[in-house]
Amino acid sequence: MKIAIGSDHGGFEYKKEIISMLTEQGHNVKDFGTYTTDSCDYPEYAKSVAKAVADNEYERGILICGTGIGMSIVSNKFKGIRAALCSDTFSAKATREHNDSNILCLGARVISLDLAKEITSTWIDTPFSNEERHIRRINMIE
Ligand code: RB5
Repeated sequence: MKIAIGSDHGGFEYKKEIISMLTEQGHNVKDFGTYTTDSCDYPEYAKSVAKAVADNEYERGILICGTGIGMSIVSNKFKGIRAALCSDTFSAKATREHNDSNILCLGARVISLDLAKEITSTWIDTPFSNEERHIRRINMIE
């Protein structure tokens, strides 16, 4: 799967680990930055990843900041983006099945790295249910 990933300084370390995991799993991952631990502005990275996913250049996106909240606020402003902030695997599975979410947001200061990786794998591996009621609701968002 073609995946776009980005973080601010708060999510930088988790981003590195998640890129390694996804690459080992055989995914094609593009890192949109940040590339250092220097303090930076999360809206820039959210915008780059959200645009790349909204323009269908990547199937999915992953955004990581301290809480995941800033990344989800910004990315959900882009038409066609359904970003889900997840701190548990139940939500990660449900948001793929019900919302067909195309961006996963994670908070590196909220959850452990192991849990972040587990949530990411669950979210990547879960297909959309394609159930009529969920399609109808997604169309209402658009
Ligand atoms: C950076 O200090 C922090 O504000 C950011 O990573 C994020 O949590 C914003 O929502």
